Amino acid sequence: MKKVIYQHYGSVSDLEIVEVAIPEVQPDELLIKVKAVSINPIDWKRLEGQLKMMTGSNFPKGIAIDFAGVIEKIGTDVSNFQEADAVFGALDAMKGEALAEYIVVKAQTVCKKPVGVSFETAAASVTAVVTALYLMNKCRVQCGDHLLINGAAGSVGMAVLQMAVSKGLKVTAIASGDGLAFIQRWKPEVLLDYKKHNILDQKAIYNAVVELSGNLPFSKGKALLARQAVFASTLPNPIDMLKAFLNNLFSKKKFHIIRANPTPQHLNQVSEWLTQKGLEVPIAKQFFFADFKEAYQFARKGQTTGKVVISIT
Ligand SMILES: NC(=O)c1ccc[n+]([C@@H]2O[C@H](COP(=O)([O-])OP(=O)(O)OC[C@H]3O[C@@H](n4cnc5c(N)ncnc54)[C@H](OP(=O)(O)O)[C@@H]3O)[C@@H](O)[C@H]2O)c1
Repeated sequence: MKKVIYQHYGSVSDLEIVEVAIPEVQPDELLIKVKAVSINPIDWKRLEGQLKMMTGSNFPKGIAIDFAGVIEKIGTDVSNFQEADAVFGALDAMKGEALAEYIVVKAQTVCKKPVGVSFETAAASVTAVVTALYLMNKCRVQCGDHLLINGAAGSVGMAVLQMAVSKGLKVTAIASGDGLAFIQRWKPEVLLDYKKHNILDQKAIYNAVVELSGNLPFSKGKALLARQAVFASTLPNPIDMLKAFLNNLFSKKKFHIIRANPTPQHLNQVSEWLTQKGLEVPIAKQFFFADFKEAYQFARKGQTTGKVVISIT
């Protein structure tokens, strides 16, 4: 089978496609024929060696975590799935190798793909929507509260925006370029262009701030918080985690750093959001497997409006 790997830390040009054996299935595992994967920033952070401390120096490594596909073979202990079931999920964020014709996964980590949702949309939704669920949970906001989303046109931001608006929050969304028009459809109360406005100059106060850009540290962002409010970030690093721990001992302005870990319960919620609650996960561009480098180059450039997916037939 074909699989995309890299032999050392580097850039998109270091990705290569190789022929490897189809993996064996352990009793509690499923062999999945991958139909689509989506690209996430974690993929290139790992590839570029930004997470070396956690990803180590064993090579080759595979790439991509979010997938959707069809069960090809079932481990002897698995009873809750059948061959040919369509499923979706995410591999471990530090070890993802979903960009391949086949992958094996623990049966308890995936969920049936919602009926009527394409493989591409299912793969596009996992990390983005599950992370949005974590953030909404941490923000502890109620109808009428003010929420700021910094990075609202990105994959996670667009999901948080839709969830927040549907909950009756007053959302200020920060984006730029084509992203501004792109997210207008979800009706944020205020839309700001980060290339023209510095949010810190706006003198507004929020019940929660969701930071997705990597450009708003808590040390600055806390000035935007009401007396009892939450600053939630998706960018874990050891220093900020220590700062968050110390801050939260003494301050009513809480600093939370989340690390999303998609479980089947989360995936069920993703299905519900997609099929019953009208959540949209637009696809910016869909690539074929053979064009995986172009797909990663396109995603890595940023300024995309929606998810980038790779279809594998
Ligand atoms: N901890 C976790 O479990 C977890 C889970 C998911 C994601 N993440 C991380 O969370 C971040 C967001 O993920 P994502 O998938 O949404 O990424 P994304 O799709 O690349 O979105 C990032 C957004 O940030 C915007 N941005 C860039 N510079 C900005 C600035 N100075 N001010 C305001 N916005 C700015 C970008 O807008 P432009 O395109 O207009 O520049 C883009 O829309 C990534 O770093 C990702 O690795 C962490």
